[in-house]
Order: sequence, then structure tokens, then C-alpha cells
Amino acid sequence: MAKPILIANWKNHPDSLKEAKNLLKQLSRDRSLYKKLFFFVAPPSPYLESVAFYKDFIRTASQDISSVPKGTYTGVVTSDILKSFGVRIAILGHSERRALGETSSEVAEKVKVALRSGIAPLVCIGETVRDADGEHFEFLREQLKLSLSCLTCKADASKLVVAYEPVWAIGKDAKNAIDSKDLSQTVIFIKKVLSDLFGREIADRIPILYGGSVEVSNADVLLQGTKIRGFLVGHASLNTENLKSIAKSLISK
Ligand code: PGA
Repeated sequence: MAKPILIANWKNHPDSLKEAKNLLKQLSRDRSLYKKLFFFVAPPSPYLESVAFYKDFIRTASQDISSVPKGTYTGVVTSDILKSFGVRIAILGHSERRALGETSSEVAEKVKVALRSGIAPLVCIGETVRDADGEHFEFLREQLKLSLSCLTCKADASKLVVAYEPVWAIGKDAKNAIDSKDLSQTVIFIKKVLSDLFGREIADRIPILYGGSVEVSNADVLLQGTKIRGFLVGHASLNTENLKSIAKSLISK
């Protein structure tokens, strides 16, 4: 069985390098636990090197990449630079970036750039509202297809990770996250779309993660029969005790 995946998305936290280093030091006390997972931390870019220092148990992730090619672009950090900091996976198309105007075509471009730099693309999709008629499934299909439209070969598709993050559930609490029945249905649907795009064999190899108000109190429930491979965790990842409990849920699933 492949190891579960846990990604800590720190967003814009903590407020200082000193606090980031402190958080990492606290995480390192449980390194033997995290080694049982594919454990990633996606910090704000200036903290990448500090995260990479702990490469014995943390894999470095970035929260985005730039799609601009090599050249002179003030203010841009290229994917090759990220790669040189040890970044192995990039969160792409997170809903908070889409809310700033990023389109699925731009996400598709970034998928291509990430692969070119040897960084695995973690493509986020998620509906803003869920309705009883299931209209959101069509939305998810389109968002996924467009976000992956630059993938030309199956070999590249097999490096993908997909995160299902319903926008309405992000940054809330366990009570407002999705329930396992709805999550299970959505995962089956995403697998079907991936299978239509790349064939069953490749689709089966693409891990699907869930993100959106994953907390200690709902981690077990979200894993029950839902066929997700792991979690993308935002606010709960900033508390090392909470993250440890979530990691334990994944290990014992
Ligand atoms: P949350 O964030 O766990 O705070 O809901 C998840 C995410 O935005 O990736």
C-alpha cells in the first residue's frame, strides 16, 4: 500500500522566520511519525530553505509557481529556482489564488511549467456552492479538464496529484466540512473524469487528496470509505499537536 500523503499548507503563516523555525523544531520531535507518511510542508517562499533543512522527514512544497519562462522579470521566482530549494510538489490553482483571478487555463500553463522543472503538480479543484441537483459536478468536470488541458502525455499525468477542496468548506471548522458520503461520491466522480482523460490505469495511480476544514475531530470520519489518499491541511497544520493527531489518523486508516 502506498503511503498516505499529508500536506501542511501554511498559507501566509507564521508571521516571522523565527516562529517558522520554532514550528519546524516542534514538528521534528515527531519525525519518526511523519516518516510513515509522504509529509510535505508548503511554507511562504522565504521560509523554504528552513523547511528544506528538515529533509529527512519533510518534503518541501510550494504554494504556487510562476508560469513565466526564464528571463528578466523583477519580482518573479521561477520554478527552476523553487526546484533548487528542494521543492518537489507545487500547489496549483488553490481557490484563494483563483479568487484573485487565476483561471484554469493559467493553472494548466503552470502544470506544464512545473513538470518541466521536475516538480509534481498538485492541482486543486472545488466548487463554490453545492446544490441538490448536482450541478457542481459539471463545474468540477470543467475545472479539472481545463486545469489539465496542457497535459499532453500519459507519463506526465501519472505525476499528478489532485486535491478536492470545496471552497465553501475552506477555513471553517470540522462542523462545516464535507460529510464522508458526499466526499466519497465526489472522489468517484473525479476518478471517472480522470479516467475519461487518461485511461483507467493512469487514473488509478493519481492520488486524490481532500482539503477544507480538516481538523482533529473530523479526520477519521473523512477517511472512512472515501478512497482519498490524504489531506491538504490549512489552519490545523499550524498547531503541531493537531497536525500530529491528523497524521496518526492517516497512518491508522
Ligand atoms: P483549511 O485550508 O484547512 O484552513 O480549511 C485548507 C486549504 O485552504 O488548503
